[in-house]
Amino acid sequence: MRSLRGTVTGILLFIAACGAPTTRPTPGVSTGGVPASWAFHNSGSPVEASRGMVVSDHPLASAAGIRILEAGGNAIDAAVAVGFALAAVLPAAGNIGGGGFLVYRTGGGEVESLDYREQAPGAATHDMYVDANGNLNEAGVTGHLAVGVPGSVAGFWEMHQRFGRLSWREVVRPGLELAREHVVDSARHAAIAAAGEQLVRFEASRAKFLPGGTPPPVGTVWRQPELARTLGRIAAEGRDGFYRGPVADLIVAEMTRGNGIITHEDLAAYVPVWRTPIRATYRGYTIFSMPPSSSGGVTLAEILNIMEGFTPMPRFGSAALIHLEAEAMRRAFMDRNHYLGDPDYVRMPLERLLSKEYAARLRTTIDRDHATPTPPDAPTFLEGINTTHYSIVDAEGNAASVTTTINSGFGSKVTVTGAGFLLNNEMDDFTSAPGTPNLYGLVQGEANAIAPGKRMLSAMTPTLVLDPNDELFLVLGSPGGPRIISSVYHVISNVIDHGMTLGEAVAAPRIHHQALPDSIRFEVGGLRPDVLARLRALGHGLSGRDDYMGSVSSIMRVPRGWQGVTDPRRGGGARGY
Ligand code: DON
Repeated sequence: MRSLRGTVTGILLFIAACGAPTTRPTPGVSTGGVPASWAFHNSGSPVEASRGMVVSDHPLASAAGIRILEAGGNAIDAAVAVGFALAAVLPAAGNIGGGGFLVYRTGGGEVESLDYREQAPGAATHDMYVDANGNLNEAGVTGHLAVGVPGSVAGFWEMHQRFGRLSWREVVRPGLELAREHVVDSARHAAIAAAGEQLVRFEASRAKFLPGGTPPPVGTVWRQPELARTLGRIAAEGRDGFYRGPVADLIVAEMTRGNGIITHEDLAAYVPVWRTPIRATYRGYTIFSMPPSSSGGVTLAEILNIMEGFTPMPRFGSAALIHLEAEAMRRAFMDRNHYLGDPDYVRMPLERLLSKEYAARLRTTIDRDHATPTPPDAPTFLEGINTTHYSIVDAEGNAASVTTTINSGFGSKVTVTGAGFLLNNEMDDFTSAPGTPNLYGLVQGEANAIAPGKRMLSAMTPTLVLDPNDELFLVLGSPGGPRIISSVYHVISNVIDHGMTLGEAVAAPRIHHQALPDSIRFEVGGLRPDVLARLRALGHGLSGRDDYMGSVSSIMRVPRGWQGVTDPRRGGGARGY
């Protein structure tokens, strides 16, 4: 691979999709572009196993998944078990009070996706977070009014009803046991400490997370009896154990306590939706990812379709490559922010956005010598720190790719009194006021405006990749708000285009562009000084951050079976069997 800079400046190579190569470079040959300053050199930690694999952001949750697989469960049984386990051991993001997405492929090749995203309560209104002066108030981010109707338990129930093999009780059990007790690790202690100032504002959150005023100490046993009781009800009664009866009563009572608006009717009416996954192709590989109400699949497909026409790809880490990637991301995010929303509420030109012809047109608007400014504004990147992705493959080749969230770390910070679980603050993912950035600096349009019963647009991108022989090749996804999409793009491209091993592909530095703010976000230490200077000369704004992007939990097919890799940015656990 050669650098395009200087040699072919100004020449655009428009290679038709059909002309794209279908082989990838030899693995392990192309991390030369990663600067010496990068924090995660050689830190991918692959685990291999012949039958199946679970990779999640917490080793105890991955172990729960393996326990289910070893007991004869399939990937969906394990997905449900890992989901409930994460609610107990990763409270900042794992949840029963939030929502998520599943992309699932059976060993026989059937591919499905399940949307169990939260939705706006029936009493929600278009301008509910805008004050009299037209400014956004904090109610959309913290506290009871920020909460969307949770979808997770209904989602787990639905996927298990359709594809599960073990009993419901068996798959809830590992999470229930972890809620009864597990040992707190340093990452969870630190996460609770970091959110302490917000959590302490809500009585039940204070009691649960800061008993005696401090987070549960590292290495001690943490008991969550109220959560265990809630999980016991769910184990006994299925989805009704959450959406009706005592748990629903406690949720509604919590709403009343803090001026929230979720009602019994909202809870009882919640239904997850099976949707046709987004299907894209990239250099002979096939990608399946999440359709709206997540923007993940469409935006990822648009980025890949644009990049596919740049052949050969500039070398990894070069300014030429990062420029093209940033311009591709900018264009895909402009479409995302303008067109996408809940498919039950808005019409979207998906066929056009996903077509190779449209990508080719967008490619012609990319100038190799200059950044294309996004129309001006001044949002900032504020951070949410959580969401979590897990990837599972079982011995029959069934693959589950699941991303779930309560939005920012610890969601609304509101714990349901008496029920022991946190509620999301997903309402912030709506366009609360057109032109005004949300928590992630996303500036979105009317397609994603608030309406009763509507699902807020997500960036979550649970994804499966098939190789050119249509064999399952990769299972992956990430947290990171809009940076989820670029993180997933990078790992796919690093493996297919740059010949990296999965460990290298996950550890390699990432960049991100989301149209607004109009700058390339990069990970500190991830770009060489000369590359930064060249990008500046091309007209790019640059925003270096030392909080790294995403946490890709991924699985790849290897000759001996499956390789699982956790992201060194956040740790986690890969377990095989
Ligand atoms: O659905 C979404 O796109 C966001 N609520 C995800 C938030 C997230 O990933 C925060 N994590 N870092």
